[in-house]
Formats: sequence, C-alpha cells, structure tokens
Amino acid sequence: MMNSDFENRYFNEDCIAGCQKHIPDDSIDLIVTDPPYGIGGDTLHKHYNRDENHVIDGYVEIPMEEYGEFSQQWITQAERILKPGGSIYIVSGYTNLFYILEALRQTSLREMNHIIWKYNFGVYTKKKYVSSHYHILFYVKPDGPHTFNTYERYGAKEKDADGGSLNYQDREDVWIINREYKPGKKKNKNELPSELLKKIIRYSSNEGDTVCDLFLGSFSAVKVARGLNRNATGFEKSAEAYDYQIKQMEQLTPGYLMNNIREPEHSPPSNQGKPWTDEEFARLKERYTDLRSDSKTKKESIDILGEEFGRGYFGILNKINQIEG
Ligand SMILES: C[S@@+](CC[C@H](N)C(=O)[O-])C[C@H]1O[C@@H](n2cnc3c(N)ncnc32)[C@H](O)[C@@H]1O
Repeated sequence: MMNSDFENRYFNEDCIAGCQKHIPDDSIDLIVTDPPYGIGGDTLHKHYNRDENHVIDGYVEIPMEEYGEFSQQWITQAERILKPGGSIYIVSGYTNLFYILEALRQTSLREMNHIIWKYNFGVYTKKKYVSSHYHILFYVKPDGPHTFNTYERYGAKEKDADGGSLNYQDREDVWIINREYKPGKKKNKNELPSELLKKIIRYSSNEGDTVCDLFLGSFSAVKVARGLNRNATGFEKSAEAYDYQIKQMEQLTPGYLMNNIREPEHSPPSNQGKPWTDEEFARLKERYTDLRSDSKTKKESIDILGEEFGRGYFGILNKINQIEG
C-alpha cells in the first residue's frame, strides 16, 4: 500500500518508481521540473568551459536512445499525480524537445503556453548562431479550475516609463531572465534562477499548495516553493546531489522569501462607490458566465472582474450574489 506521507519530504529515488510508491493520484497542485537533457549533461562543463570545482558531483544523465521512453514514463506519472486543474511547467533544451512534446501529446494535459526563456551565457559557437534559450512548456490537467494569479506581480494599471502595461509585459511568453552567477558557491549543473522559479510559482499556485519537482538537482524549485509558503516534494536520483542538498533543506525557514517579493500596486478601484448602470450589470453577467465556463473559480472571477470593472471585491461579490440568486 502507498505511504502517502510526502508533504515536505524529498526522496533519493528514481522519480518514476518513486512517484508510484509515494504520490497518490490527483494530489499535486503544481509541478515545476527540469529533466536531464539527454545530451551528455554529466559532461556539460566541457561546453560551458566552466570551473567545475564548485559543481556538485553526481548528475544522472539519460542515454539519448532511451530519452523517448523515459520522457513518456515520467510524464505519465506527472499527469497521474496532478490534481484536476493542476499545472505543469517543463524546462527543455531544443535537442530533445521533440520527445517531451510527443510524450505530452499522449496525455490528457492541455497546452497553455510554449514559453521561450532567453538567458545570458549561451553556448559559444563560431560558425553558427549562439544558442541562448530554453523552452518552458506550460500545460494544465483538465477537469478542474486552474490557478493563474493574473495580478499577482503587477496591477492592471501599472505602467513603464513609455506608458506600456507592466502586467501585459510580465505575461508575454518570451522571458528574459539571467542565470545566477554564484562565485564560490556549490551548485548543480544547470541550476534554475530563483527569479524564474518565483515567477512560475507565484502565477500558478497559492500559499499552502503543494509543488513537486521530479528532478530536484540543487532543489532550487522546492527551495523557492518553501520560501513562498508552499508545501513541496520531489525526487533526485543522484546520492551526492541529494545528500548535499537535503542538509540545506533542513536549515531553510519556510516563508523566507515572503518579505522580499514584488507586490502589485493596486490603485483604488476607479468606479468604487458609483451606482451600477443596467448596461454595466448586463456586461458583468455576461463576463461572469464566460469566466465560469472557462473553469475560473468564483474568487478568481471576482478578482478579474474587479480589475475589469474598476470595482472593489465586495462590490462585485454583491452583484454576483444577485445574479446567482
Ligand atoms: C537538469 S537537472 C535539474 C536541475 C535543477 N532544476 C536545478 O535547478 O538545480 C536534472 C536532475 O535530474 C536528476 N535525475 C536524472 N534522472 C533522474 C530520475 N530518473 N529520477 C530523479 N532524478 C533524476 C539528475 O541527477 C539531475 O540532478
């Protein structure tokens, strides 16, 4: 029988067998993961010309010829453990992207965005263009409302110096986020920047939700998740990487990132206190019906409508209660 005591526990196990053993169906709100690339990741330092003294030994790579089957198996587990409405973000290079997309196509998971992450320090080349992007595949499991906190980082009315909407820019599907340079600090090969992880976790989960990473590496995703008051779990096959990082997890204080995150600026709702016109009420009814049929929860719909109609939360709630009778 499955021991489902997995919250805030991390396993030094293969993620495919480990998921089957520890994680029940429909139990995870968000998966953020970065599988091995199948391109000789255990020798990546050769491409990056990197000082290996600070890179932790132990990175389990997948042979190229097994990549398709391997991707299919772990993505099947990911689909199983996500709650209906749960989200998954998979980081992939371009070499084996095909296998990941093909494995996703075999599931019920629904594509939301194919994000391009542009980073600095691309792999140096002379006779072709320098490669400096990754793909981030954002999918959602059907049959449940998915969390997307549209105004979590930028309010609807925040503008840059040229009058452009910061909310719109932050939600475009090309992200320019630099890798972190951590001189003298121990890290995993390919450690994901915390800026990138904070963005994903804040948009696609809420405090108290459970975030899972099937390929923990330096545990970067679960460190950020715990820092943002989410629960976390995950797997890492390499004993060296696991033993080093599990000690760091024990020292970590949940919520440690909460005082240091960008909060959106919300100017007072522009129509607050003004009487509702019949036309406005009819538009609200129509938009509320659309949002609910697009699987938004009542609360999510109220947040969105508050921004759109320039009204406070309770102003919208009162009207919706009238609509629902
Ligand atoms: C690209 S790295 C992840 C890096 C991580 N996102 C970070 O920011 O440090 C992939 C990791 O998956 C681990 N791994 C490879 N095969 C695995 C498997 N079957 N189950 C669990 N972990 C595995 C590797 O040892 C490696 O640490």
